[in-house]
Amino acid sequence: MATSEAKSRTAFWIFFGFFQILGIFSIVIFVVWECFFNKGFAWDYRNRQFAIHPLVMVLSMVVLYGQGSLTYRVVTCMNRSKVKILHLVIMGTALVLAVFGVVTVFIYHHHMNYGDMYTLHSWCGMMTVASFALQFFLGMGILLFKGVDGNLKRSYLSLHRYGSLAILAMVGASVVSGVIDDVYLCMSNKSYRDLKLHAVVLNVMGLTSLIAVLNLMYLLYRDDWKRNASNRSGSPEGDVPAQETRPRAPSNDDNFPPPPDYPPPPKETTSLLRHQ
Ligand code: HEM
Repeated sequence: MATSEAKSRTAFWIFFGFFQILGIFSIVIFVVWECFFNKGFAWDYRNRQFAIHPLVMVLSMVVLYGQGSLTYRVVTCMNRSKVKILHLVIMGTALVLAVFGVVTVFIYHHHMNYGDMYTLHSWCGMMTVASFALQFFLGMGILLFKGVDGNLKRSYLSLHRYGSLAILAMVGASVVSGVIDDVYLCMSNKSYRDLKLHAVVLNVMGLTSLIAVLNLMYLLYRDDWKRNASNRSGSPEGDVPAQETRPRAPSNDDNFPPPPDYPPPPKETTSLLRHQ
């Protein structure tokens, strides 16, 4: 039993490590390309400013969003309240960076006299950032504060979990459509065979980011990789009396009382035997 738990934990760390490598690789390949083989980054209202957009979007919505969504599964050495704050700080930083990345491209479009929101990528990207902002503020309002009704917290938590996966699906679609848009724009009438190194680097970054997102979705999908009942006080469910087959006894650690239909503790086995 202990061995299979250890194997499962090892598998978790392998997928976790793979996610980190892919995320860092996506950023590094793009930064190296821009700084050493292209014009680099600058707030010049031109191409160097546009380059900030893909960098910041992948950094915020893939790398940081990933760290934020995995906090409860990775950080097992802190109590629930501290993990919650860490989760909030990482997600808040990711959101601020994502908004900055989108504003960067809006300002660039404005100075170049290009239109806004005319591609599928723009709409998909805007939907992604808006959903993330909604999830962040709803999560903060409902799950962070102790006074909120327990039933509301319970029902919202499943929506919050689904929301993370839905946002990740949108991040994958935004990155891929953004790369396609950029490659299309930078190829301008060239034949596909003359694909520039710029396009190759962007395609590689798009692909590695997409694999990182799929990997992250798997890390979040595995229920057995949640913190187990013994150290559950650090997970989001630490707040929410879970619908378990064998219910957890209410503890002083809970933020709100258990549901009204909370079953009484099972009778002791010895007393059952006595009646036989
Ligand atoms: C989660 C990731 C991303 C999000 C949420 C996102 C969001 C957006 C948004 C909202 C716009 C519209 C700006 C406007 O209309 O003025 C935009 C434009 C653009 N983005 Fe992204 N983006 C992401 C990743 C990327 C990546 C990785 C690239 C690759 C180079 C990219 C390339 C572009 C391009 C070329 C435009 C201008 C043309 C267009 O509107 O389609 N984006 N992005």
